[in-house]
Amino acid sequence: MTAPAVVTTVPLPEASLARLREQCDVSFRSPWDDRAGFELAVTGADGLLVNSRTVLDGELLRRAPNLRAVSTVSVGLDHIDLDVARERGIAVTTTPVLNDAVADLVLALMVMLARRLPEAGQAAISGKWSEERLGSDMGGKVLLLVGFGRIGQEVARRSLAFKMRVVYWDRRDGLPRIEGVERELDLERALRGADFVSLHVDLNVSTFHLVGSKELALMKPTAFLVNAARGGVVDQEALGRALAEGRIAGAALDVLEQEPPLATEPLLTEPRAIVLPHIGSATVETRAAMLELAIDNLLGCLQGDPGPHAVVDPRSPATTSTKDRI
Ligand code: DGY
Repeated sequence: MTAPAVVTTVPLPEASLARLREQCDVSFRSPWDDRAGFELAVTGADGLLVNSRTVLDGELLRRAPNLRAVSTVSVGLDHIDLDVARERGIAVTTTPVLNDAVADLVLALMVMLARRLPEAGQAAISGKWSEERLGSDMGGKVLLLVGFGRIGQEVARRSLAFKMRVVYWDRRDGLPRIEGVERELDLERALRGADFVSLHVDLNVSTFHLVGSKELALMKPTAFLVNAARGGVVDQEALGRALAEGRIAGAALDVLEQEPPLATEPLLTEPRAIVLPHIGSATVETRAAMLELAIDNLLGCLQGDPGPHAVVDPRSPATTSTKDRI
């Protein structure tokens, strides 16, 4: 029997590559350097190992007659056309082992905003030493979590330790209860009352530009926005205007609508904005765990058992829930 053909867009360390090669014929393709070569390889692939920057649209998935498995080294799935995957019987799996890493980053971003750390650090190295650049306390402030999935819950736990008052808004019922965290049913009211708003929804048709000019206008002028979910959840142009006009106090973004952004992206030079290059899961431990899980997932799918991290499982087509992750 010939080994299944696997295309990876993720550069693999030697040990991971060796593990995959025991069972598969593996080739690396970069869709960014050579999209045509990547697409050609996909048309002959049985399995794909990809990251969240690898766009797998419906047209491409339809051109891959042998494709049985897509294992993404991410928890976000907006780069994959899940409907077409489901229709074609292609299993899709994710790596939900990044909750702590992302939650740690969100807390760091909140502290950076509240204590004006980028500004203070910049001042210190440019000779403008001052102990009078005052920030704000975190304790007693209201944090609104928009989305209360696994990452949102980890942010809640950490924020309670910072003595914040934590509320969440989520369309889903039946989410786990965390003592000290309250649910808010009315997003507009929640936005009006929040000192910090942190986004934890995945990007889909119902969350695209969930935070736009109307929502930003509801926020307090002293409030901060944090987005470590997906850029498209925020209307970036509207955010740029709100920041430039001082209608909210600041924003910290680990994700942008276009990644990498154009050099002319106004948020890159907006003094009230902190922008990071999508590093929520970027710790040695978390990335290694994600990669190993993604390989397990892929091998499982190719052996006919997509396992517990499948969001599309051809054996039970209804498994996909695009709302049940971040
Ligand atoms: C994820 O896993 O979705 C992170 O955002 C990294 O892409």
